[in-house]
Amino acid sequence: MGLFGSKSKKVTAARKLTGSVRFPGDKSISHRYATLAAIAEGPSEIHYYSTSADCASTLACLQKLGVKIERKEDVITIHGTGLAGLRAPGGNLDAGNSGSTMRMLSGILAGQPFRSVIGGDASLSRRPMKRVVEPLGRMGARISTAEGGLPPITFEGGPDTRLQPIRYELPVASAQVKTAVLFAGLFAEGATEVVEPLRTRDHTEIALEQMGAEIGRHGKTTRVQGRPRLTGQKVYVPGDLSSAAFFVAAGLLVPDANLVMQNVGLNPTRTAILDVLVSMGGRIKILNVETISGELLGDLHVETSRLTGGEIPAEFVPGLIDELPVLAVLGSQTEQGISFRGAAELRVKESDRLAAVAENLRRMGAEVEEFPDGLRVPGNQKLRGAEIDSHGDHRIAMAFAVAALVAEGSTVIQDPACVEISFPGFFEQLDRIVE
Ligand code: S3P
Repeated sequence: MGLFGSKSKKVTAARKLTGSVRFPGDKSISHRYATLAAIAEGPSEIHYYSTSADCASTLACLQKLGVKIERKEDVITIHGTGLAGLRAPGGNLDAGNSGSTMRMLSGILAGQPFRSVIGGDASLSRRPMKRVVEPLGRMGARISTAEGGLPPITFEGGPDTRLQPIRYELPVASAQVKTAVLFAGLFAEGATEVVEPLRTRDHTEIALEQMGAEIGRHGKTTRVQGRPRLTGQKVYVPGDLSSAAFFVAAGLLVPDANLVMQNVGLNPTRTAILDVLVSMGGRIKILNVETISGELLGDLHVETSRLTGGEIPAEFVPGLIDELPVLAVLGSQTEQGISFRGAAELRVKESDRLAAVAENLRRMGAEVEEFPDGLRVPGNQKLRGAEIDSHGDHRIAMAFAVAALVAEGSTVIQDPACVEISFPGFFEQLDRIVE
């Protein structure tokens, strides 16, 4: 927590990176297990639950809904209340900066016999929520947002709350929306189906299976049977690949680098970043692969590499949506540069990530072309140290810390504490491996 209160963090060029790096438990998986454990019967033990501020927001909301939670070092115990055991919260629920908390919990709140309101910080209050309100409304939830489909979301639940199952075709590829509908489906009588335009991360499906729900998966359709008996479990969360991605990029780019990363999540719906980097010539070895709690994980070895760059196909975008900022930064150091389209979703993340990446690359003296739904970053560019505006967005701050490692002179990253949203200890680990 050392960064709280610091207004900026200076990062300078690195010649050598060596050692091993560890990551917080996967943020996506942690949110899902905490939420499902809360409505399961009996206690669940979640090992390596993410230390991120976002996942703490989920726990705080669950506690406000009457769920007892204990934390002892790396293990949290959640005393599930069963499907019908949540309590009306004393006041508004606060999702903080976390879109996942707001959207996933919406699926649960939609099925409750009480009124609730969930809001968030300034960044979250600008993010679109119509995408969850629309399907949940169709299921019979009495749900509304502030003007323009923005947070807070209000659920007018009462003793007569009844959800109906639906078959829902997602208009945008979003794992959070898929999760909201499947979670609401747990409270409906019958089978709820979600059809995705492009496959997104499937941690919800895996977590539901682990907790005892009846799940059917055919192509891009997922079906969940309503009113299941979920039972508390002991589960292990792998390290977060989206956090590892910053160190993978740093390891590939810094002139003399050799990094080891242990127990990183390798769910195939998340590994497009590794596929892309390896296909561009990245020297990344994956070792000791195993499955724990339904999720693949393993160790990564990364060495300095010459990268060709290239165009990222649009169908890859949902599989590396959170890694696109760092990939764009890395593009400037490849032979041909990197370009991608079909990523308009990046405009409605914690910040407008297309604009934030373009702005900060330009501050570092790089050329970049911005499209409504993508970026083109030419290769072989020299970066100059600059002042970086993270826009309070953790992934922008970390992507430009990587840029700073290969830039001339020193870079100053504003509001560095925002990295705690997903990766507390990011800068401490970076300082430790730089020689
Ligand atoms: C997430 C899904 C993605 C991703 C976010 C986490 C999840 O968002 O960007 O960081 O855990 O399901 P969308 O569902 O909005 O695509």
